[in-house]
Order: sequence, then structure tokens, then C-alpha cells
Amino acid sequence: MAVEQTAKTSKILRTMTEITYEDYKKFVNEHSAVTIEDVEIKLGVNWIIKSYGPPSDYKLEKTTVWSFPDRGKWATHQGNYRGNWSPYIPRNLILKYTKKGDWILDQMMGSGTTLVEAKLLERNAIGLDINLDAVMVARDRLNFYYSPLFPDYVEPTIKTYCGDARNLDKIDDCTIDFIATHPPYANIITYTKTKKLEDDLSQLSFDEFMDGMKVVARESFRVLKPGKVCAILIGDTRKYKHYIPIALRVMETFLDCEFVLKEDIIKIQWNMKGTRENWNGKEYDFYLIEHEHIFVFEKPSDQIEIKKYKFSSKWW
Ligand SMILES: C[S@@+](CC[C@H](N)C(=O)[O-])C[C@H]1O[C@@H](n2cnc3c(N)ncnc32)[C@H](O)[C@@H]1O
Repeated sequence: MAVEQTAKTSKILRTMTEITYEDYKKFVNEHSAVTIEDVEIKLGVNWIIKSYGPPSDYKLEKTTVWSFPDRGKWATHQGNYRGNWSPYIPRNLILKYTKKGDWILDQMMGSGTTLVEAKLLERNAIGLDINLDAVMVARDRLNFYYSPLFPDYVEPTIKTYCGDARNLDKIDDCTIDFIATHPPYANIITYTKTKKLEDDLSQLSFDEFMDGMKVVARESFRVLKPGKVCAILIGDTRKYKHYIPIALRVMETFLDCEFVLKEDIIKIQWNMKGTRENWNGKEYDFYLIEHEHIFVFEKPSDQIEIKKYKFSSKWW
């Protein structure tokens, strides 16, 4: 069992518990929906799928500014999980950084967008969430039959767990080919306030959240194969009308952990519901935050690589 020491706390972190398809079926027999914060999400959905991928004229991203006004609604990317990421994001990253049969990890998977993309793109995947209800939503989204036109499609292995991103105890060192994850942004959108899950990172103060992200970075580094990459979507917020650079702090945390930065992609935000800028007045004397960062970090392949990146220039 992992014991996490921080300056202020000594805490035993939850271990990973596998949630299988059978567990999901049993759960759905007893629950027709889950409520995550104030949003009800139906389970046991009979998916009517119109397409299994983006529009045919869509071209993969080539620059460091990404914008998806239509968000993406193919396969089971429907519904209302708060703060879910556009499937265009994991699709672009998976196609750039992995090949068929690789192992992908999303340790804060929410409704399982990354895992659905892994299933469509024939990559194996492990998904994890602190909230069992979220794991059931992800299982629900994965519960569709995919029969692509090409005959050599191999159904990948997709495993889901309830657990803490700070303790990936069921994943061996250096076994994951790619990480794509989307943490909560400190306590901007909370996921389990009413349910009171205290190991939910979205319940923590900013300092505690950053302590938690340090451990997430260390675990990510441990499980990733050398030479492979870890992509994180993270945004900022305001407090007392001042800009709180959560993303930059998270980036520093990963760099402190021997990762090197491969990309800083700006993702434009659409359909914001005002949760990050919740001011009463309509006249703002600040700019509305309309972007997030996708940082892509590489785990250097050996000590020589680390030295090259870390010590050859003060800018690394
Ligand atoms: C921004 S959401 C992820 C949304 C996901 N990308 C999707 O498309 O649905 C962040 C998720 O992190 C989960 N979470 C919070 N603290 C966690 C922890 N300590 N370990 C694992 N998951 C955690 C929350 O329950 C929430 O589902």
C-alpha cells in the first residue's frame, strides 16, 4: 500500500480495484443512472451509433493551436459528463504517439473518452477514476459493438479500475506506451462534493492539489516506458480577479520529475458554461480565459538523454 508523505500530511492512498464488464452489468441491473455532482447520467444506454470517427474531411492537427468547435460526437461520445474532453484530443495524440497494440493509460478517465478512442483505434488501454460512478459511465460508453469495414480489426484489451491516480499499484514499472489524461483543475469543477470523496483531487485546496499532482507525475514517470510520452490537458483560473497559472505550475511539477517538455499545445475552449469565471456582474475588467494547455512530456530514454536535456541549456 503506498504511503504518501507530504510536508503536511501522511496519507494511505487507495489501491486499484478492477471493475470488469460483469461488475458493470451487475451495477446496471441495480442502477439506471448515476449522479455526478448535480448531473444525472443514464446507464445501460442502447447506443445508436451513426459514425465511428470524425467527419471525412477532418485532417489531423499539424500546429500547436487546436480548436474543435463541433467537439466531436462519433461513436458513444455523447452525453453530459462534466468537463469531458473532446474526442479529437485523444484521437490526435493516440495517432501521433502510438501504434496498434500499444498500451495507453488514462488515470483520470472520467467518462472514458480516451478509452473509447483506444477501442476504435485498436490500442489496448487502462482507465482509472477515483469515483466508481465515473468508472461505470466509462464502462457504459465502452459497451458498444464495433465492426469496422476493414476485416483485420483486432479487439483490444481495455481494463478499467476504481482507484487513485497517485497510486498505480497494479501497473508495473516501464510498461505503458502512452499516457493521455485530463485532471480536474484544482477545485474549479468538483466531481464528488456532494458524495464527499476526500481523495478526489477536485476537492483539494490549490496547495494540496499541487502536492497531489507531484505524486501523479512521479507515478506517471514510473509506469511509462523510457522514450515514451505523457500528455496532460490542464487549464487555469482566476481568483479575486487574478490569474492563477495552474497549468504552468503543473508543467513545472512534471519537469521537476525528470520529464522533458516535447510540446505545449494551446487548446481553444468552446461552449464554456462560466464555471471558471463565475462572477455576478456582467461587466468584466479582465479577459475571459478561453484556452487550455496540452503539455506533452517525454520520459528520456536513459541517463545520458536526461543529462542532455537538463544540463546542456538553462532553458530545458
Ligand atoms: C476532467 S475529468 C476527466 C474527464 C475525461 N477526460 C472525459 O473525457 O470524460 C477529471 C476526472 O478525474 C477524476 N479524479 C479526481 N481525483 C482523482 C484521483 N485522485 N485519482 C483518479 N481520478 C481522479 C474525477 O473523478 C474526474 O472524473
